[in-house]
Amino acid sequence: MSLEFIQVERDGKVGLIRLNRPKQLNALNLKMVDEIVETLESMDEDPEIRAIVITGNEQAFAAGADIDEMTEVDSIDMLLRDQFRVWDRIALVRKPIIAAVSGFALGGGCELVMNCDIVIASESARFGQPEVNLGVMPGAGGTQRFTKALGKVKAMELLLTGESLTAEEALHYGLINRVVPVEVYLDEAMKLANRIVGQPPIAVRLIKQSVLKAIDLPLDEGLDFERKNFYLLFSSEDQKEGMRAFAQKRKPDFKGK
Ligand code: HXC
Repeated sequence: MSLEFIQVERDGKVGLIRLNRPKQLNALNLKMVDEIVETLESMDEDPEIRAIVITGNEQAFAAGADIDEMTEVDSIDMLLRDQFRVWDRIALVRKPIIAAVSGFALGGGCELVMNCDIVIASESARFGQPEVNLGVMPGAGGTQRFTKALGKVKAMELLLTGESLTAEEALHYGLINRVVPVEVYLDEAMKLANRIVGQPPIAVRLIKQSVLKAIDLPLDEGLDFERKNFYLLFSSEDQKEGMRAFAQKRKPDFKGK
């Protein structure tokens, strides 16, 4: 697929996706979402990449789904378009995805952020689900993930008023990991990604999977899932390497095997 609305870069073992539709504040049209998801999947398959950063620009991460593509369609158009099926594939990406967010992360933009695993925000970032202002509601998980992240009453307030959270508020509610000055938000995300790529990839993969299970499974099933993955890691070379390196007081060299 030729990439029209995103730019893709590599920095060592980190894959970087830049949303690049600046005149429309990175509003996510259908092709752009396809490009994002296909790139995430190809990075997930690429053994040279161990973590992924997704970012926009200083003004906007993404100001939502492209309203122009939705204005005149009817329900059956939407049903046949089935645009959220591609979104479901984001959750299947096994490598950690870090969002580096500045400016607007609204509607589909906020939903994209909530599909990421770690979120670094600039002081200017704004997070919200303003679909109600357009006579609709979130469709890519906003009512569910916002509520799980913020709790019922805050999510309800924001979803019903369409108001957004500042970066500091988002931090307070646990929607994001940290807030940094706008000059360094991408550097911070890249630094964090570079820290993760030094970790044993199979453990990273199973930890990500287990944390995501914690959101959906009852505790006993989540613990069972965790335990089996813990046992599984004892068949990895990286477990032997990590524990032997500790005993030998040296830095481990993880191979992802
Ligand atoms: C299409 C958009 C857009 C969007 C901005 N633009 N957001 N185009 N879809 N979601 C375009 C504007 O039309 C404008 O184009 C240009 O980007 C700059 O935007 P302005 O409004 O002039 O900028 P500003 O005054 O700074 O206001 C910024 C803003 C506002 C507050 C973010 O643009 C806004 O409210 N946007 C819509 C936010 C929203 O409702 N998002 C949810 C969408 S629904 P021109 O050509 O006029 O310069 C959604 C459903 C999710 O996400 C479904 C899952 C995918």
